[in-house]
Amino acid sequence: MKAAVLYEARNPLVIEDIQLDPPKSGEVHIKVGAAGICRSDLHIIKGHAKHRLPAVLGHEGSGTVLEVGRDVTRVKPGDKVILSFVPFCGHCDNCLEGKANLCNTHADTSGTLFDGTTRLHKGDTRISHMGKVSCFAEEAVVPETGCIPVSHDFPLPQAALIGCCVPTGIGAVMFNAKINPGSTVVVVGVGGVGLNVVQGAKLLSASKIIAIDPNESALEFATKFGVTNTINPTEQDPVQAVKDITGGSGADYSFEVFGSSETVQTAYNSVRKGGTVIVVGLTPLGDDPTIDANRMTRQEITLRGSYYGSVRPALDMPTMVNLYKAGKIDIDNLITRTYKLDDINKAYQDMENGQIGRGVITQF
Ligand SMILES: NC(=O)c1ccc[n+]([C@@H]2O[C@H](COP(=O)([O-])OP(=O)(O)OC[C@H]3O[C@@H](n4cnc5c(N)ncnc54)[C@H](O)[C@@H]3O)[C@@H](O)[C@H]2O)c1
Ligand SMILES: [Zn+2]
Ligand SMILES: [Zn+2]
Repeated sequence: MKAAVLYEARNPLVIEDIQLDPPKSGEVHIKVGAAGICRSDLHIIKGHAKHRLPAVLGHEGSGTVLEVGRDVTRVKPGDKVILSFVPFCGHCDNCLEGKANLCNTHADTSGTLFDGTTRLHKGDTRISHMGKVSCFAEEAVVPETGCIPVSHDFPLPQAALIGCCVPTGIGAVMFNAKINPGSTVVVVGVGGVGLNVVQGAKLLSASKIIAIDPNESALEFATKFGVTNTINPTEQDPVQAVKDITGGSGADYSFEVFGSSETVQTAYNSVRKGGTVIVVGLTPLGDDPTIDANRMTRQEITLRGSYYGSVRPALDMPTMVNLYKAGKIDIDNLITRTYKLDDINKAYQDMENGQIGRGVITQF
């Protein structure tokens, strides 16, 4: 099958034919229908995040079940599914505590499927999986707990976005921060994930949603999703600007959704006394923020991370599907560009060049 393979960081992905072994017990063979262009893949491509290479990246995906391995009960051939990049084992401490997004067995088998082996290879060279999804390919083999069924008429590009940016952003507001109605919210970085933080804040009736982003087109685009105030940090001090908008105190909540020491610091400094800072972005290796820890103590600031929107994928992704069907969240307009798999390097170039919204690969 055709796949995009990353052999070495800071090099283009190579589009080539590789082999995909059949699904083993508890695994499902998928025909990939759509794959989103998320910055987490770009971190690996740029060498800013570690991953075993060579690898087939792509973790924001959807598709159709082609065949199932032994003992699979959750899906059957022909089903349309969202792919979760944190399939759950169901028996580790975190799964038992209802934190399936932090499944230990999944983390311990990073780069492979649950049995510690890969289905991807080129001849004798084993190729790693990303998030047990690897949807930058025509087909994939994934654990059955990574398959969340949707109805047959559900569009696959929208389903792919429910595989990462939608739950990551909305979940950070709904399940992690659990903001109160009327809250003031800052969102640092309004790309694919940040726009969903915006949608989550709107859904939970935030009174002000303040976007900080150096890209003017991204700021303008974000107002269509519920942003009430925009700040361009290249034109004004973003922290001072947030204070001006919030009557001098700072926001109740801030969400960091780019991934850098600088933006974490901006988010940290933008909240009021007693405020909460949620870090969603992944900072490059070694790019750690400097924060005033005394302020955290004296002003009771809460600083917390949010992984996969703190969702339990199998339970909460159907909620996202329902919110979309009810017209409460907009996924259609998030999709601003579609690509062929052959053009994946261009897709990542576009992201680096500041194209707004989400790009999606729809032709394989
Ligand atoms: N926590 C999770 O589970 C999770 C899941 C998916 C993605 N992520 C991470 O979230 C981050 C965002 O991903 P994305 O796909 O939305 O990226 P994106 O490229 O679509 O969006 C990033 C946005 O940040 C803006 N930006 C750039 N520099 C900035 C600055 N100095 N200040 C403010 N904004 C700035 C960009 O203009 C862009 O609008 C990445 O770090 C990604 O790895 C985390
Ligand atoms: Zn992602
Ligand atoms: Zn587990």
